[in-house]
Amino acid sequence: MIWLGNRLRILDQTRLPREEVYLELHRYQDIASAITELKIRGAPAIGVAGAYAIALGALEIKAESRDEFLKRLWGITQTIASTRPTAKNLFRAIDRMQQVAEAGKDVEQIKAALVNEAIKIQSEEAEATRKLSQLGAELIEDGFTILTHCNTGALATAGYGTALGVIKWASEQGKKLRVLATETRPLLQGARITAWELKKADIPFTLITDSMAGYFISRGEVNCVIVGADRIASNGDTANKIGTYTIAVLAKEHSIPFYVAAPTTTIDLALTSGNKIPIEQRSPEEVTHIQGVAIAPEGIDVANPAFDVTPHNYITAIITENGIIREPYGEGLKKLSGNV
Ligand code: MRU
Repeated sequence: MIWLGNRLRILDQTRLPREEVYLELHRYQDIASAITELKIRGAPAIGVAGAYAIALGALEIKAESRDEFLKRLWGITQTIASTRPTAKNLFRAIDRMQQVAEAGKDVEQIKAALVNEAIKIQSEEAEATRKLSQLGAELIEDGFTILTHCNTGALATAGYGTALGVIKWASEQGKKLRVLATETRPLLQGARITAWELKKADIPFTLITDSMAGYFISRGEVNCVIVGADRIASNGDTANKIGTYTIAVLAKEHSIPFYVAAPTTTIDLALTSGNKIPIEQRSPEEVTHIQGVAIAPEGIDVANPAFDVTPHNYITAIITENGIIREPYGEGLKKLSGNV
């Protein structure tokens, strides 16, 4: 994701791996649609894109007064906030942008400050994912087979990656690894994007369907599981891509570590537990169709929650840029967020 002064350049993640298509988004509405349609996806990347959308929207506003400008800006932040509900990173980015706008003296100064803040959010997220990958790599031993779910690499973070970042860092340290990457139904982020990223990074991997996780774990072929997160409640309960909870239960049953890797911007201290995390419900067509082709009869009942919640007692450790924590998560999460 590259900011070009008056537009945002992104790689369209929906077209991977068949085509590498770059899009230039000139209006904040284009960024909002790109987030909703998953052209930009992954919690940290959604936050960064949301910040750029607000900056871009601000640049377009022609207002006579600061008050009028702010009123129109709040309309834009509402549009961005309504794109996807689960990733905490988006709402943190929006809060930061709103605070910067409120602190500004006049319209031109606020516009410049908003652009600077969005750039800062991107560089901070990139730095955080690099740092957490470095810290998390210490948990990975030479010869490990690691199971990961969904896509948590550079594209999902506008930076280095979270779970996939940990794997990449461990591999760069010279550790010999094998990755089991789940395809991640319904939208195949694993098959399309993780496989594309792992292939580029030259890390040995095997693509499996989501339902094969139990087969490989029960045969003792998996040393640990690492996943990302969209929102972590203050007790450690973690929302991540649908199917994560199933893998966590399997990991616990077979006594293998289950790690969550995320920047602290994913932590939501205001929520006491995971059942308060808003879970996005997406369109039935994503389940009944694969890349436009119908695979189910018409007119049937379909459910499509995009995320599930893994209770904290299934999580062996949470890896962030500020450190790795284990149970009990309450105090640790507060400390890591600088909120003691
Ligand atoms: O619906 P998506 O593709 O945006 O879901 C992404 C995930 O669930 C990721 O695991 C999470 O956002 C962490 S990305 C570093």
